Amino acid sequence: MILILDFGSQYTQLIARRVREARVYCEIHPFNLDPEKIRAMAPRGIILSGGPASLYDSGAPDIADEVLELGCPVLGICYGMYVIAQHLGARSAGAQAREYGPAMLTIDRPDPLFARIGGSQHQVWMSHGDRLEAIPPALFAIAHSANSPYAAVCSDDGRLRGIQFHPEVAHTPCGAQVLRNFVLDICGEPGDWTMTGFIESQLQALRARVGDHDRVLMALSGGVDSAVAAVLIHRAIGRRLKCIFVDTGLLRAGERQRLEENFGQRLGIDLDVVDESALFLQRLAQVIDPEQKRRIIGHTFIDVFEREAARLGGARFLAQGTLYPDVIESVSFKGPSAVIKSHHNVGGLPERMRLELIEPLRELFKDEVREVGRRLGLGAEIVEREPFPGPGLAVRIVGEVTRDRLELLRRADAVVMDEISSAGIGGSLWQAFAVLLPLKTVGVMGDGRTYESVIAIRAVESQDGMTADWARLDPALLARISSRITNEVRGVNRVVYDITSKPPATIEWE
Ligand code: XMP
Repeated sequence: MILILDFGSQYTQLIARRVREARVYCEIHPFNLDPEKIRAMAPRGIILSGGPASLYDSGAPDIADEVLELGCPVLGICYGMYVIAQHLGARSAGAQAREYGPAMLTIDRPDPLFARIGGSQHQVWMSHGDRLEAIPPALFAIAHSANSPYAAVCSDDGRLRGIQFHPEVAHTPCGAQVLRNFVLDICGEPGDWTMTGFIESQLQALRARVGDHDRVLMALSGGVDSAVAAVLIHRAIGRRLKCIFVDTGLLRAGERQRLEENFGQRLGIDLDVVDESALFLQRLAQVIDPEQKRRIIGHTFIDVFEREAARLGGARFLAQGTLYPDVIESVSFKGPSAVIKSHHNVGGLPERMRLELIEPLRELFKDEVREVGRRLGLGAEIVEREPFPGPGLAVRIVGEVTRDRLELLRRADAVVMDEISSAGIGGSLWQAFAVLLPLKTVGVMGDGRTYESVIAIRAVESQDGMTADWARLDPALLARISSRITNEVRGVNRVVYDITSKPPATIEWE
């Protein structure tokens, strides 16, 4: 495995994704992970991430000397490079060397890190406040940029390397190859981590852990993660897996029926559907604040689930479709970045239930989970499913959630889903949905003045939801969506299209 030590960069997860794309297993841990633990993990290589800190800050995050002395290759990215340089005795220059954006990298000496990328000039992405002003004798430069005399460095023994630029972001076109070179050639990883191997080892592990008699309880949400986890567990232990689906009343049109058909009928999973829409609505009455909505929905969900679990009785395990990004968020030294939204919908459930937790997907990224789903025979309608927030339509109704506003949004949203699906472009979009705004505007219908609600359409392209761009939808498609919504959904007289990327906006409106 490759160990990634996180100094809090917003891009740390991307490093891990690139490494996984090279079919190499990797894990992210906080920068201050105990060196003894690192030794026990026996990583084939270590990557030190970037981070927001400045080396000039007092108490700037640092690693123990032992980490660099384990004997495996180490690659420091941005802040990670300064850390290496400092351990070898460097001085750094101050904030006048700030550099954010594209830069041209010139490779000055051949190095395995830059194998197979062609040429000596490469566009790279910089994002740093400090830069290395002088390097210690144990290091030599292998590349520079206009602004950074030491844009890439290597130690005399060829074991430690540092790069100023960010190879993990798409704006560094040669970056994926640079990381491949590091993990495959320099660290000697075989690059044979596959999803088929993953499924086999998980099935064995699940059977061994659950044994022949115990039962597993799980909440199905309809999303990809819980679906794939459920099918995997079902394959391991059959009907000793019991699934519960809580209908919060905050779902998109037709969701509950789709779930019953797919899981209950088609896959033969033991599934109970509990309709608690009235309870959720009642607890959401007059709540405006998005985070408060999330909290209320999370707590209510736990209440309902606990009650159902008690009613069913007798399970020893609770399964969850936790993915690696959720795990990283909780281990990272201060989260991958500031918490913008609390996405941990049912945080606290396992602690409260006193059940043992089973999370078969906790090592995987989303694209890997989809691959597992495909290999388990799940169809595209489940595996390619667009993400849907746990708090559901509640965070797509800006302002108060009421039964009427939910109904209105659901109808407008159904038009969006229908048109996107007819246009056959769902596969190229990360998400496409309707949002109900808390304002009314004036319109004219027939000969009369109207004063009604506004629906915003959001459609984005994204690799992972962390950044996103608004989709350049065909104007004819937008026109059909707009005209159908204003014609078919009573109470809406205006439709707008959201043309903001993330950042600065987020994908959801709340
Ligand atoms: P944002 O709005 O933060 O969304 O750009 C990024 C991705 O996360 C989804 N999202 C959520 N998912 N619970 C979830 O399970 C939430 O509270 C939540 N809020 C946003 C969003 O749909 C997008 O895919």
